[in-house]
Amino acid sequence: MRKTLFGAGLVFLITIVCIYATARNDHEASFAFNFPSTIVFEEKLSAYKIFDGNPVDLTPNSNFKLVELSSVLFTDFAQKQRLVKVPKGSKIKGQDDGRVEYPDGSILVKTFFYYNDERKPELGKQIMETRLEIKENGVWNIASYLWNQAQTDASLAIDGFDKKVRWISAGGNSRSTLYHVPAQNECMSCHQSNSAISPIGPSLRNLNRMVERDGKKLNQIQHLQALGILSDFDTNQISQMVDYKDSSASLSERGRAYLDINCAHCHQPNGWKKSNQRNFDFRYETSLAQSGILHKREKISRTLRNGRMPYIGTTMIDEEGIRLVSDYLNSL
Ligand code: HEC
Ligand code: HEC
Repeated sequence: MRKTLFGAGLVFLITIVCIYATARNDHEASFAFNFPSTIVFEEKLSAYKIFDGNPVDLTPNSNFKLVELSSVLFTDFAQKQRLVKVPKGSKIKGQDDGRVEYPDGSILVKTFFYYNDERKPELGKQIMETRLEIKENGVWNIASYLWNQAQTDASLAIDGFDKKVRWISAGGNSRSTLYHVPAQNECMSCHQSNSAISPIGPSLRNLNRMVERDGKKLNQIQHLQALGILSDFDTNQISQMVDYKDSSASLSERGRAYLDINCAHCHQPNGWKKSNQRNFDFRYETSLAQSGILHKREKISRTLRNGRMPYIGTTMIDEEGIRLVSDYLNSL
């Protein structure tokens, strides 16, 4: 009798282990993308000559221009610096409100860091990673570099990495997390459109905002045109995405801006197959009726509150963002 029970227990255990292993393989297999690559990434970030002077100051070399987005992706409260380089003599082509077209040889750079104390940036920072997108032969290549402890350089990190980080928030609270540098396949799950690697942030509507350069306030699109790296077109034709943190903007626009920049890279018809099967289209320009939001309000709120979404890219919950989305969904 005891033996039978033991046998049954063993079979049960093996079954559970098998189911678990299959589920895990399935999860990993769904991240196995096969995009072509047209460059070999350098081992060290310094080879790209992105920063001048002491690397930790993140002073861009004059070939790299600063860009700022109105609405940004939440990544565990990390601060981010975004830069763009286009080869001399060529320009980024902007057409309509949507994505822009980059010439071959373009490099997009995003560096993630934490101020030791957000209230006092002069107390220094910890740079975690620098993410690159490089276009060559019409194809985007994507990879991240993990910064060393001395903060003098960063090394190619194709397989991802977890690194503990601690900082003090703007509100004076001590925070920490096991920060995750995504593996290359994770980058690809977010950065794909119509089965090709693609940039996400710099749509004209998200770039169309005021910025400060050399002490002057300017429209960023006009500024990029004046630098000679963005094609000429009438900026009045371009709409604007609001900053979802701007409480003077309308709740519906803020809610949609949040869902666009935090979710729409996966949840839209051209996104990753595993996510676009869910029939959402969270893109800013998609009408509410077409977005799939109205009938799934409760589900959207729930997946945010229990941390199931976003699927990858964060380890911490964006309380403020969730409150905004809940307020927006409740207002519908
Ligand atoms: C969870 C989804 C997600 C993952 C994973 C992700 N990204 Fe992004 N990435 C975004 C979004 C959204 C933006 C634009 C918004 C922003 O910058 O705040 C962006 C912006 C960027 C940019 C600036 C240019 C652009 O496309 O807007 C670079 C460079 C970049 N990512 C590289 C990477 C690399 C390399 C990896 C993997 C190590 C990676 N990303 C992983 C969502 C993701
Ligand atoms: C990296 C891609 C990715 C990102 C980013 C992402 N999702 Fe998802 N989402 C998925 C995948 C894949 C599924 C289906 C698998 C699952 O449910 O575990 C899913 C499922 C969902 C579901 C459940 C749908 C259903 O019918 O059960 C909701 C709701 C959802 N996502 C909302 C969001 C919201 C809101 C965001 C932004 C905060 C977001 N997602 C960001 C990939 C993503």
